[in-house]
Amino acid sequence: MSRRLGALIAIMALTSTLLLVSAILLFPIGPELAIPGLPSGLLLGMVFWIALSASGSSLAVRMPGGNVVDVAFAPVVATMSLGGPLAAGLVALVGSTQARELRRDVPWYGIVANRATITGPAIFSGWLLSLVPGRANLLVDFVATIGAAAVLFSLNTLLTAAFVSVRGGESMWKLIRADAGAYSNMLALAPVAWLMAKMYLSAGWWAVLLFALPLYTTRLAYQRFVEVREMFTETVRSLAEAVDKRDTFTSGHSQRVQKIAVDIGKVMKVSDSELEALEWGGLLHDIGKIGVPDSVLLKQERLTRDERTKMNLHPVLGAEIIAPVKRLAPELPIIRHHHEWFNGSGYPDRLVADEIPRLARILHVADAFEAMTAARPYRMTPLTSQQALGELRKFGGIQFDPDVVDAFVRTRWVRDVPDPGRPEIRNVPMIGQAAGNMAMTMAVGNAQTDDGIGSATTGGVAPASPATA
Ligand SMILES: [Fe+2]
Ligand SMILES: [Fe+2]
Repeated sequence: MSRRLGALIAIMALTSTLLLVSAILLFPIGPELAIPGLPSGLLLGMVFWIALSASGSSLAVRMPGGNVVDVAFAPVVATMSLGGPLAAGLVALVGSTQARELRRDVPWYGIVANRATITGPAIFSGWLLSLVPGRANLLVDFVATIGAAAVLFSLNTLLTAAFVSVRGGESMWKLIRADAGAYSNMLALAPVAWLMAKMYLSAGWWAVLLFALPLYTTRLAYQRFVEVREMFTETVRSLAEAVDKRDTFTSGHSQRVQKIAVDIGKVMKVSDSELEALEWGGLLHDIGKIGVPDSVLLKQERLTRDERTKMNLHPVLGAEIIAPVKRLAPELPIIRHHHEWFNGSGYPDRLVADEIPRLARILHVADAFEAMTAARPYRMTPLTSQQALGELRKFGGIQFDPDVVDAFVRTRWVRDVPDPGRPEIRNVPMIGQAAGNMAMTMAVGNAQTDDGIGSATTGGVAPASPATA
């Protein structure tokens, strides 16, 4: 456990404990929570709600962002409405025990964090609810309960995301956004919770059990949501790997490009949604190679002009393949433009500098570094990281965006590798149609690089270019 994580858990645990002690001193459990007509009715009422909450917790589902959600939230809100802050805090504290915790699958600090992220918010929102006047009016009570549930759930979400973020190093907002759909569904449980409380009062404890069925179906809906998303992720990953595996030399290429591109994106502080686009774009950037015949893709000799043209179509083909998938719309520019050159000599659209989408410029650097540092049939001994970085620097402003190369230098991929820095004297970059024509000419003369543009043997205005795949 890191120091930061330890400090966060300590603060959350201390705050929750202080809130619990304050609630014990200030807020006796409301009599409405008691099961009427029974000795120790209040105690039995607490046991009933804790049991209901615990059975909801045992049906927990892990969300894509890493958070675990369950339907125990509804009994906590109902208890808050019936018995006040202390009752809500106790039900949250004991009733949020999850089966995986009992199986000891969760480390002790995880259990402490789980308790703290629900108990503190339950007491705090219960206290807010207790401040609302006029709750004898059903409408007022309903609105106040929904409001308190929203506070409870928002605080729980924030604290849980903070914990997962500090533990795993991921962005907190990204985690929250990843699970947003499920959170809104959870919030929709608040009216159910209010109804549970009213049924408990008017019909009795047994009537509350009728809500078990909708709660269970809600849980099933979460599970389906998670399963479908995971299936999508795995399918995309398999698809990318299937393309890479057609050529034994490029197996795993897309996954490595994805990781490098995401690291560059983090250094450049791109937004969370752009980081996600880099993740998917990294995996899928060469998906268009599906449409390149084996005779071209796997050819180890020099490609003819025709073959090179077919090979260079893969960014366009990739974009066409992905276009019908609406969810992948942000990745389209990355896929289409990952072979554009900064000076306009790339393909397919010969865009120049800032005309090239920023994420495509990032991916281009990641793609080149991965290709240079991996074995290829035309170069069985890969370049060292130092040599590859030297190439990226040499071609900064020509093939690569120099700002992206600057960012790449600060990633873990070239940590401790000497950086030659930006070259001081730079040939005037070629721009526009002439450059494109030159590039195509060079491409035909070179079958040694994966993207076929430039080589040590072609000469010309631009120096030899590093390979990209
Ligand atoms: Fe590639
Ligand atoms: Fe490519």
